Amino acid sequence: MKGIVLAGGSGTRLAPSTIGMNKHLLPVYDKPMIYYPLSVLMLGGIKDILIISTPEDIPHFQDLLGDGSAFGINLHYKKQSKPNGIPEAFILAEEFIGHDDVTLILGDNIFYGQGFTTLFRKALNHHRHATIFGSRVKDPERFGVVEFDDHQKVISLEEKPENPKSDFAVAGLYIYDYRAVQIAKQLPYSDRGETEITDLNKAYLKGNQLDVQLLGRGFAWMDTGTHESLFEASEFVKITQQRQGFKIACLEEIAYYMGYISKQSLHQKGESMRKTDYGQYLMEIANRKHTEQYWETIDKNPILELVKNE
Ligand code: G1P
Repeated sequence: MKGIVLAGGSGTRLAPSTIGMNKHLLPVYDKPMIYYPLSVLMLGGIKDILIISTPEDIPHFQDLLGDGSAFGINLHYKKQSKPNGIPEAFILAEEFIGHDDVTLILGDNIFYGQGFTTLFRKALNHHRHATIFGSRVKDPERFGVVEFDDHQKVISLEEKPENPKSDFAVAGLYIYDYRAVQIAKQLPYSDRGETEITDLNKAYLKGNQLDVQLLGRGFAWMDTGTHESLFEASEFVKITQQRQGFKIACLEEIAYYMGYISKQSLHQKGESMRKTDYGQYLMEIANRKHTEQYWETIDKNPILELVKNE
């Protein structure tokens, strides 16, 4: 399974903050936005990841994330000169995908909730041809909308409909087989001058090859494309982290619990940022003597659980 983070675009809805900087490098509370989608792919066990962004911004992502070895993953980069729509990601990633399955996550989407890792892993394991994730929202007209029957069989899909047929938005996380590349090449341009991921999903639906996985009540799915939603996401992360003492989307922590990096590298990374809460957190984890017992007294740590079950 390959992974793609789509982190391009001009971020016009976040101007002036995005005039000199790519949206996905802006902080969501205490870490750059791109950490959140990357953490999702990592929790899914996906190690080969392609980051797609503008030619001007790729060097900044490289400064931040390098080749991924600091997190035990392999990061690759691909330039997208003009945002031509989400499906273009597959065309740009054709060589990278080869004949593998691929998971795409939008760079401004945040997923958080108990059991998310398990749900996502199950979706990856049971994946047939195409899987999308539906989340109930108050304003479905802002999103791709999925309608399904009592057996969770998809009936229809619409992109930003005036009269949505359901309250379930299609979240920015998609799993496909390699055929997504060829389908993406044939998609028409929509009124907003881009190809639409909803049209790609419709192609799979037509062949009865589209599954939907629902994110239940306990899940928070947020996109951070506007000042309002970015601020809300930051608040959510801050409050949740402060309450629980765990960090959301801490890539080094995930890498450590997945067994990708050593205790020593975790500590060193923490040390290099010791003036921050983030750095202190990494050192604290590295210094824990009985990591597993510690987690188990509080909650079942999904990361450890999965590592044990593999
Ligand atoms: C895009 C997709 C939409 C999806 C949304 C999730 O919307 O077109 O189907 O529901 O991402 O964030 P956009 O951000 O391009 O408006």
